Amino acid sequence: MGQQEEIAKRRTFAIISHPDAGKTTLTEKFLLYGGAIQTAGAVKSNKIRKGATSDFMEIERQRGISVTTSVMTFGYEGTLMNLLDTPGHRDFAEDTYRTLTAVDSVVLVIDSTKGVEPQTERLMEVCRMRNTPVIVFINKLDLEGRDPFSLLDELEEMLSIRVRPLSWPIGVGATFKGVYDLYDHDLRLFEAGKSKKEITSEQFKDLADPRLDKLLGEEAATELRNDVELVNGVYDPLDLAAYRRGELAPVFFGSAFNNFGVREVLDTFVRIAPPPGPRETDQGQVDPADPEFSGFVFKIHANLDPNHRDRVAFMRICSGQFKRNTFYQHVRLGKQLRFANPTAFLAAQKSLVDEAWPGDVIGLFDTGNLKIGDTLTGGSIFNFRGIPSFSPELFRELVNLDPMRSKQLEKGIRQLTEEGVAQLFTQQPGNKKIVGCVGELQFDVIRYRLEHEYGASCSFRAIQAHKACWITSDDPAALGEFIRIKSNQIVQDKDENPVFIAPSAYMLELEQRNNPEITFHFTNEFKTLQT
Ligand code: G4P
Repeated sequence: MGQQEEIAKRRTFAIISHPDAGKTTLTEKFLLYGGAIQTAGAVKSNKIRKGATSDFMEIERQRGISVTTSVMTFGYEGTLMNLLDTPGHRDFAEDTYRTLTAVDSVVLVIDSTKGVEPQTERLMEVCRMRNTPVIVFINKLDLEGRDPFSLLDELEEMLSIRVRPLSWPIGVGATFKGVYDLYDHDLRLFEAGKSKKEITSEQFKDLADPRLDKLLGEEAATELRNDVELVNGVYDPLDLAAYRRGELAPVFFGSAFNNFGVREVLDTFVRIAPPPGPRETDQGQVDPADPEFSGFVFKIHANLDPNHRDRVAFMRICSGQFKRNTFYQHVRLGKQLRFANPTAFLAAQKSLVDEAWPGDVIGLFDTGNLKIGDTLTGGSIFNFRGIPSFSPELFRELVNLDPMRSKQLEKGIRQLTEEGVAQLFTQQPGNKKIVGCVGELQFDVIRYRLEHEYGASCSFRAIQAHKACWITSDDPAALGEFIRIKSNQIVQDKDENPVFIAPSAYMLELEQRNNPEITFHFTNEFKTLQT
């Protein structure tokens, strides 16, 4: 098979949701259809569970699971699916955001009883930054959920995306009878607890057909006819190009737990989701069909076994063909590297790969050469864009509790931040270390891992901070002056870029207003955009 065919058959995507909406359940159903697992319950939830075990054990459990489920590769109807896992806990959101830079599309799960939730909004913001195509699955129709029309309105309003339902629910909760497939005109009737094979499916090209009243009862049949008429009146037919530009989201209704409406999503997904496409670099676009290999690192897992300093770097291949034991250019370090044991992930099994193609994600064992955002190529010098660090929301000063082990602390915090657990900023004079995280739990993770993996002990001191913004200006003198005046609130990121720590939302707005010549950035993405 040639490179074009290899690319055309791949779909690299993620399933995302606010915690508890049903991401794990839907993932499991996809894997069941793909034959990658045989029984329900095989996919472990990567959520941090409350209660039973201590948080720290949960952290370790989560890290263990998330390395084995980082990428799940399975086949479905001749398509090779690379499903990238994202952490279930909100406090690990930055890891999720970065994983989204490595996919070509996403399936977004919404809980029909809750609608759009805070994490749904954030995830969609990240998708919009990269115009990632989105298919929506509205889940838990077996529960008393919200009215489907109001859910669709909420999606459009809160997620700033147009929607197009492709299936329509018949009743909700106790009266949920099934879905009408607006694309293939199939009526699928739901029977709780029945497996996928036992679902009745009938074609209804014309909903006026009196058989519909017999099947659904008169009331439900009339309601369906009215709803479908309204849907077709209100929503334009599916515009595939708009979906692929990330402007329009096809929407499905169902129940992942009952395996209802899942196949429709999967079948539509393989039909319309985009194969690996071109990617932006600081030297222009790279096309997947380019013969030269290229890829970037979007995630690093370190020290899974504290006795071995093992690190696995996850690389998304963007063009050409990756081959084992071949020298590749590490652009940032300007040196050649080769990998003897690259790993692919088939469900929970790891296996050695000899070759991989655009859209594939492989794990590279590394001794410290690779960082998140690094580009590898067949020899050309360029860097992929779009692997941003996001502005953290929680800040603490790192306090060393054991001066005899400062070196270990220094090394540990550097490695953990390279892994993407948190962002590290330094403040001069005094070399104060400020750690920025997306979630509270990450501080516990850092403290625990510094102690167990590096033998260093630390605590965190609260500081007054609302947001960290990278600052730039076309006027170097104005930037210098701002940095001088605000020196108490200026820190440097790991690459020594100046960052302003705004003490409150009000102060941030004030500074933005008073300093129009300074641009405040909320991701560090501006760096690659400038070069
Ligand atoms: P997440 O990964 O998005 O966090 O969600 P997950 O799939 O773990 O689902 C969260 C809870 O919602 C689970 O229940 C799951 O069984 C349930 N769920 C998923 N899909 C449906 C559905 O279609 N209908 C209904 N009624 N429930 C659904 P749990 O009690 O938290 O966990 P578990 O004990 O079932 O594993």
